[in-house]
Amino acid sequence: MHVSFLAYRRFEYLKYSLALIGLSVITYALHDPSVPPNGGTWLGYTLGTVGAALIFWLLWFGVRKRQYHSHLGQLTGWLSAHVYLGFALLVIATLHCGFQFDWNVHTLSYVLMVLVIISGMYGVFTYAYYPARLTQNRADMGIRPMTMLREVADLDRRCLKIADQMGDKVHQMILRSIERTKLGASLWRNVLGGVGTILGDLTDELKSDVGRSQLPLRPLATPIMQQGGEMTVMYVANQFASAGADQVKELLDLINAKKALVTRVQDDLRYHTLMSVWRYFHVALSIALLAALIAHVVSVFFYW
Ligand code: HEM
Ligand code: HEM
Repeated sequence: MHVSFLAYRRFEYLKYSLALIGLSVITYALHDPSVPPNGGTWLGYTLGTVGAALIFWLLWFGVRKRQYHSHLGQLTGWLSAHVYLGFALLVIATLHCGFQFDWNVHTLSYVLMVLVIISGMYGVFTYAYYPARLTQNRADMGIRPMTMLREVADLDRRCLKIADQMGDKVHQMILRSIERTKLGASLWRNVLGGVGTILGDLTDELKSDVGRSQLPLRPLATPIMQQGGEMTVMYVANQFASAGADQVKELLDLINAKKALVTRVQDDLRYHTLMSVWRYFHVALSIALLAALIAHVVSVFFYW
């Protein structure tokens, strides 16, 4: 699904939404109550009822989404209407209360409504922005997540094979770096992404090993073969006398390739997470809104 729902049937629901907004604004402008405009005038009650009906209908979308065999129109159409009429609610609720806000349960329902709408806007943004980023991130690999992970495992295996020939110390270092590579361990990690620490420990160990050197040792996690990297490779090769420069170079190339791939896998996970996590906020806030709205209406009639 992408943002084509915004243009559904040539913006049909945008037109309905603008018509509803226009009608509310005109009626509000013509309305001349004896008291300052508020939720208690006939227009206040009318707009409040329309707003509440809209909220129930917007909530119904969660149910409609899961009715695969429903005949009530296409899901794309529903989403289009949901987005545009959800926006109209902002104007309708503001006119309903005549711009009067206080520290009470009425205003709480208004604030929750605004938060639901903001989270919805973020949702639309994710649909517009992330699918293209996902495709770009996977570009030239034509790869599905599982294949990516298999490729990471393959690079690990090749690294270990070379490291094996370079002695116990290198083997241990590579093994540890493999063990520390975490992909999608937690929601937070998925959102933040990044692989800053993945090869950091490995780099530190090598640094401490050659720390007394006068030569500038580049961190392994950077593309080491660029700009005079040969020097470093030669130096590292000297440190591991049993290994040839070719082996070191090959190992560093593999590490760089793995780092690039892991970054892409992390980005893939991050985009997917960002595309779905907002919905939990949207739904949770919607439920809180429903509770506050019921409290608002009940309290209004209770004190009537
Ligand atoms: C069946 C639907 C609704 C009815 C019958 C209704 C009724 C009322 C009434 C009678 C008032 C005036 C209260 C007073 O002056 O003390 C009011 C105020 C208000 N309503 Fe509603 N309302 C409804 C829906 C909504 C909705 C959907 C929202 C927004 C989510 C909302 C937000 C507010 C706010 C912010 C105020 C102003 C509170 C204040 O003056 O501090 N209402 N409503
Ligand atoms: C008070 C107003 C709103 C309420 C109560 C509401 C409620 C809901 C509910 C219950 C769902 C279904 C979520 C699920 O079950 O997965 C949903 C989905 C969604 N809403 Fe809202 N919504 C509101 C306003 C908005 C607005 C203004 C926008 C956009 C600007 C928006 C954008 C979306 C999107 C993009 C989805 C996800 C559809 C999908 O992933 O299939 N919503 N909303």
